[in-house]
Amino acid sequence: MRIAVIGSGYVGLVAGACFAELGHQVISVDNDESKIARLQAGEVPIHEEHLPQLLAKHHGKGLEFNGKLMEAVRACQVIFIAVGTPSTEQGTADLSHVEAVARTVALAIDEYKVIVEKSTVPVFTSEWIRKVMLLNGVPAEQFDVVSNPEFLREGSAVRDFLYPDRIVIGADTERSASLLREIYQPLTSGSYYSRGTIPSLIEAPPSPQLLVTSTKSAELIKHASNAFLATKISFINAVANICEAAGADVGEVCRGIGMDARIGSKFLNPGIGYGGSCFPKDLKAFASVAKELGYDFRLLDEVMGINERQRQLFLRKVRSALWTLKDKRIAVLGLAFKGGTDDVRESPGIDLVKSLLKEGCAIRAFDPAAMQRAQEVLPNAGITYCESAYEAASQADALLILTDWQEFATLNLSRLRNLLTYPIILDGRNLYDPTTMASEGFIYYSVGRPNLQYPSIRTNADLAVTENALMSIKSRSSHAVASS
Ligand code: UGA
Repeated sequence: MRIAVIGSGYVGLVAGACFAELGHQVISVDNDESKIARLQAGEVPIHEEHLPQLLAKHHGKGLEFNGKLMEAVRACQVIFIAVGTPSTEQGTADLSHVEAVARTVALAIDEYKVIVEKSTVPVFTSEWIRKVMLLNGVPAEQFDVVSNPEFLREGSAVRDFLYPDRIVIGADTERSASLLREIYQPLTSGSYYSRGTIPSLIEAPPSPQLLVTSTKSAELIKHASNAFLATKISFINAVANICEAAGADVGEVCRGIGMDARIGSKFLNPGIGYGGSCFPKDLKAFASVAKELGYDFRLLDEVMGINERQRQLFLRKVRSALWTLKDKRIAVLGLAFKGGTDDVRESPGIDLVKSLLKEGCAIRAFDPAAMQRAQEVLPNAGITYCESAYEAASQADALLILTDWQEFATLNLSRLRNLLTYPIILDGRNLYDPTTMASEGFIYYSVGRPNLQYPSIRTNADLAVTENALMSIKSRSSHAVASS
């Protein structure tokens, strides 16, 4: 099938590459000419596992990049709209990019096409797209509008696309539904799994279920899914706070409740709250569309409130661990909103770094993929960007873990301890076991678990660390006295 994907961001680029992987002829379109030029030159503009592999495999064969929307529309049967839908100041979704694309599509249409919403949009958007098409003179029988929401997570988006739990198609005509069924047939029939280049994480993955609904239901499925997942995260963060107050361990509580098949253990990881380009914006948009429809969805307000407070509580924890913050040298591991991506949009880590800078801290930051994007949004002064976690830790007064990168969970702890001025770690992602950290000589704080306040000084090496720390305090205070 000839498919145009409009918008080459995190969603559009992954979708385009994956459609090509399923055997379709794809034109990936973007109005950012420099991005198209980079893609044409073989560059991969985002950090996403397996994407470079798929782009290299299909570029110039099943996948081409083009800045000309009208041309792409004329050449293709199905047009996926995957442009951004950012939040407006009022919290509603800004659909101006979607409308602009719909208008251009209307000008280009010369035969029956299916226009598919892939961007996350509020309920009724498909009706608006339909109205735009009709207002611009396209006969009703020449197009259908379908909602086909994506459930990709950044960092594992390619695998999520090729091995989904479900595919949702919101179509109000059988003609459009059957075209969409055909596009996903290699997945639903399982034929892709015998020839695919991207391996599944499990042996013999099941074929995904395909659910056909009305367009409105599909639009709501997307918003409700993200809202539910965010609710799960805020719920467990609230429970984590109670665990802290009660001296219980949220890890044990999560295991206990996650064993109930009705609840499940996924998306129950407490931490410094959710971020990213989806949950924060989608919750606001869902709450606001609910309000427009006459329902005050206050649960969502509380989910957002808990998320916001979670960052503040962590900052308070940093303060209580370090007493004063001014002139403290803080190592920060992780700037991306989650591990596996270079995306820093609505990143809790970025937010915390901004707060620490305001309090006068000197930050030594490291992220495996997001340093460049972080530099675009963080102030210049007060931050040193480091080449590794160890360089960041060097002579820092404390180390903060703010993103759940896999490599941060497997650090060489004795090396880290020797590099830090004080063996203090505040882990906003619960990557380590508190008992192990205490036995390694750290003062370790995490979320929803008992704080092990004092390192157990048991060996000569531990003693040496403490002596080093004292020496370094002495030399720094004499330096401070000399310079004043
Ligand atoms: C999310 C959804 O998971 C996808 O299904 C959806 O397609 C996507 O939004 C979208 O609408 O485009 P994503 O934002 O990429 O995907 O990342 P998630 O893995 O969902 O994580 C979101 C945030 O929640 C991150 O900041 C993460 O660190 C946090 N999180 C996640 C937790 O704090 N705890 C958890 O247990 C899980």
